[in-house]
Amino acid sequence: MLSTSSPVWTALQLREVLVPNRVWLSPMCQYSADPSGAPTDWHLAHYGSRAAGGVGVVMIECTAVAPDMRTTISDLGIYRDEQVRGHRRLTAAITAMGSVPGIQLGVAGRKSSHGVPWDNAGTRHPVLPADGGWQPLAPSPIPFADLAVPTEMAAQDGTRVLEDVEQAARNADRAGYQVIELHGANGYLFHEFLSPLTNHRTDEWGGDLERRMRFPLEMVNAVRAGWPEDKPVIVRLPAEDLLEGGLTTDDMAVVASRLAGEGVDMIDLLSGALVPEASRPATPLHNARYGPRFRAAGLLTAASGQISQPEHLDEAVPDLVDVVLVGRALLRDPYWALRARGADPLESWPKQYHRAF
Ligand SMILES: Cc1cc2nc3c(=O)[nH]c(=O)nc-3n(C[C@H](O)[C@H](O)[C@H](O)COP(=O)(O)O)c2cc1C
Repeated sequence: MLSTSSPVWTALQLREVLVPNRVWLSPMCQYSADPSGAPTDWHLAHYGSRAAGGVGVVMIECTAVAPDMRTTISDLGIYRDEQVRGHRRLTAAITAMGSVPGIQLGVAGRKSSHGVPWDNAGTRHPVLPADGGWQPLAPSPIPFADLAVPTEMAAQDGTRVLEDVEQAARNADRAGYQVIELHGANGYLFHEFLSPLTNHRTDEWGGDLERRMRFPLEMVNAVRAGWPEDKPVIVRLPAEDLLEGGLTTDDMAVVASRLAGEGVDMIDLLSGALVPEASRPATPLHNARYGPRFRAAGLLTAASGQISQPEHLDEAVPDLVDVVLVGRALLRDPYWALRARGADPLESWPKQYHRAF
């Protein structure tokens, strides 16, 4: 068990937002939105219990900025007023429990219009327009696995996506979120533009790293344009592609330092997942170990990936990263952080549960 004095339990000031600790819920799609893309009672119970479980930030799952930027028809969205109303229920509940509500903005690109994981064929199964799906957009017409061949984005598609991102950021603010994370990893649109494996364009959005970075940086600017100056922006970023010919940590260190100049406060490191052939490391803290490499960019760092034991927290913060995001361990147990903390339950657990101890 950890000692309560570990730095992982200390508060973190991000612009005007004070986060009570550095163990956060990693964004995880629940594929449980109502038909309008609004949060449901499932989301309220799921996120509410993780907030009661003492995480610093409850990061709401990948939430689409536009209908064609969803991954599935069951994704959350934040592009309609009725969705914003539903998100207000989540931010109110999370705040009432003492946690900070954050939202991951999703711009899926070519990895969109597929099945949900518990469907027969799962997330690699395309859902065609005739079955309620849609035609995906991407930097280049290169498909992911068996998903549809995406349409190469034209200039007006880019303009529209940037407007959607800006409006989604504005809606997230109206909904009461305190933190935005732009999903720039896992092979979604931002990552597709960055990587030479998925961006074969010859216009101003393709070519060398400097040019491939342009659209992703415009996406960050769009978030900042719709989001208050006093609230932080995080970008979830690949530390590398983990495949020959893909993005390297050297490339990504350049990208990270550019993000620092665009109003980004923190990067949240992942790796691989752009193409099915990329290797998939599964050792504890594998993404957090990239952290020191990115410190020079002058941003705060975060990571997720196989952080499942209390001692991993101590190993990660502050030596590897400033914040850890915990995924599957918090799916298995909403009170994982309270247990990992190992403090006197009468001080750390919700008072409603004190008679359990
Ligand atoms: C069910 C599930 C859904 C996920 N959905 C998202 C998502 O919406 N956005 C995202 O960036 N990562 C998503 N991830 C990845 C997690 O946020 C996390 O980075 C990953 O699971 C590694 O952390 P862990 O080993 O603690 O689970 C998902 C993972 C799982 C298991």
